[in-house]
Amino acid sequence: MNIIVLNGSPRPAGNTKAMIEAYQAGAESAGHSVQVFDICKMNVHGCLACEYCHTKEVRVCVQKDDMQEIYPVLDEADMIVLASPVYYHGFSGQLQCAINRIYALDHPKNLKKAALLLSSGDTGVYGGAIYAYQNSFLAYLHLEDMGIFTAAGDENKSASLLTTLKSAGAAL
Ligand SMILES: Cc1cc2nc3c(=O)[nH]c(=O)nc-3n(C[C@H](O)[C@H](O)[C@H](O)COP(=O)(O)O)c2cc1C
Repeated sequence: MNIIVLNGSPRPAGNTKAMIEAYQAGAESAGHSVQVFDICKMNVHGCLACEYCHTKEVRVCVQKDDMQEIYPVLDEADMIVLASPVYYHGFSGQLQCAINRIYALDHPKNLKKAALLLSSGDTGVYGGAIYAYQNSFLAYLHLEDMGIFTAAGDENKSASLLTTLKSAGAAL
């Protein structure tokens, strides 16, 4: 499979990145191709709601920012992984901007599967992000859920978490 990962953490050696690296290592060991986009290092603006993509040129976004690098990879991907620190019970703002921009493609061409990786300080803070994932990705885009993985507080970067993620990636 071609797997696209959207990393919403701004911390290059942070907790979310550790989750991604373990999952990626597992997936690559099973022969999958994984491409990670560090959204926070990129120039990705919020959606302008101009509707150009739905009314003028279908599936074309007027904003020529770094989302243009992501669109073709998203269209070729079989699976999307959303990875984010929990900010105020949701995704990071940077990741939410990228998610909103998927609107231009409506349904990415080959996407069939999805997974969610969330890192947080506290336990029990995942409801907002999981609701968005389940309704906007699994239901609206008709994707198969390959798992929701969370890490709170001391679970972050723990050996057991990283082993679980590596195994999950290898089982894809
Ligand atoms: C702006 C901001 C908002 C946050 N909001 C929450 C929150 O609502 N609940 C929570 O448990 N942790 C919250 N955190 C803590 C992060 O989710 C947590 O430190 C996470 O492990 C960071 O992941 P990272 O190292 O990949 O950036 C917040 C952190 C920041 C910077």
